[in-house]
Amino acid sequence: MKSPLRVLLILTGLTGILSITTVSKVSVKTGDSISIPCLYGSTNVNRVKYLCKGDYWSSCNYAVKTNQKNSRKFSISDDKIQRIFTVTVKDLMDKDTGYYWCAVEINQGSDVKEYFHLSVTKGTPKLYTDLQNKTGFERDNLTINCNYSNHGEIRWCKLGRSCVTPGSSGSIDGTAVTINASVPNVFTVTMSGLKKESSGWYQCVKGDLQMPVHVTVNEPPTTKQTKSASSAMTAEEEVTYSNVDHTRNTSNQRSNPERDADVTYSSVVTIRKKSIQRVEAKDENVTYSTLA
Ligand SMILES: *[C@@H]1O[C@H](CO)[C@@H](O)[C@H](O)[C@H]1NC(C)=O
Repeated sequence: MKSPLRVLLILTGLTGILSITTVSKVSVKTGDSISIPCLYGSTNVNRVKYLCKGDYWSSCNYAVKTNQKNSRKFSISDDKIQRIFTVTVKDLMDKDTGYYWCAVEINQGSDVKEYFHLSVTKGTPKLYTDLQNKTGFERDNLTINCNYSNHGEIRWCKLGRSCVTPGSSGSIDGTAVTINASVPNVFTVTMSGLKKESSGWYQCVKGDLQMPVHVTVNEPPTTKQTKSASSAMTAEEEVTYSNVDHTRNTSNQRSNPERDADVTYSSVVTIRKKSIQRVEAKDENVTYSTLA
């Protein structure tokens, strides 16, 4: 504990643990929705997360909190495994332009926070993608078009990890990434040989603007399917779609239909169990009263 290296490691560890990493500036079109990921440190996993709106931290107002109900306008979800909470703002209006704070509530101390700026524009945003959610299969390639009309450096980054720039071939979490920026006003990101670990939040970066993009990597469908396998897959797909706004749930093993079935049924069984237990409890009560 006393060596300087240890102290340094602890200090760098602490800054990582205490801080929040998010976008800094996002441009969105009026009427659209936007999801913003906020990455937090391991000590904050079980704490309350929230979004606060206001140009100054001291005077910002709660927009949404993980321990309160979402509103029609603001919603929040917390992926404790990836340590990312995502805030979504719907039906964007001029008045939604401004500063927002991703924050973690610390009961005995100052809350941890990081701000980002959202600008809502009537015309085409300066940096945008067609969809914020992209899905691909393991070992396949995935291309993302980032459209822009501003100046500045081009990058593709994984939130809290590393970035790739055009021209140099790079990789993020073991997946090769190339950026083709030969056409004006658009750069195309190709992620080759997708892995499960490639799932997560990325961002197109152009100059001072970012656009978050969520990538989900699923197991490829098996080519040879038995009848039961394909029906299991249908069931699994229903489950997957119902959870489409979540960042997890990507590890369903398509190659093993029996496991898929287990996954599918387990949620159903849980619900059933609960109601059965309630019925049993009632029955017991009845029995006892009869005995008495
Ligand atoms: C980049 O994209 C352009 C237009 O689609 C294409 O003509 C060109 O071959 C691509 N460059 C590379 C290195 O793939």
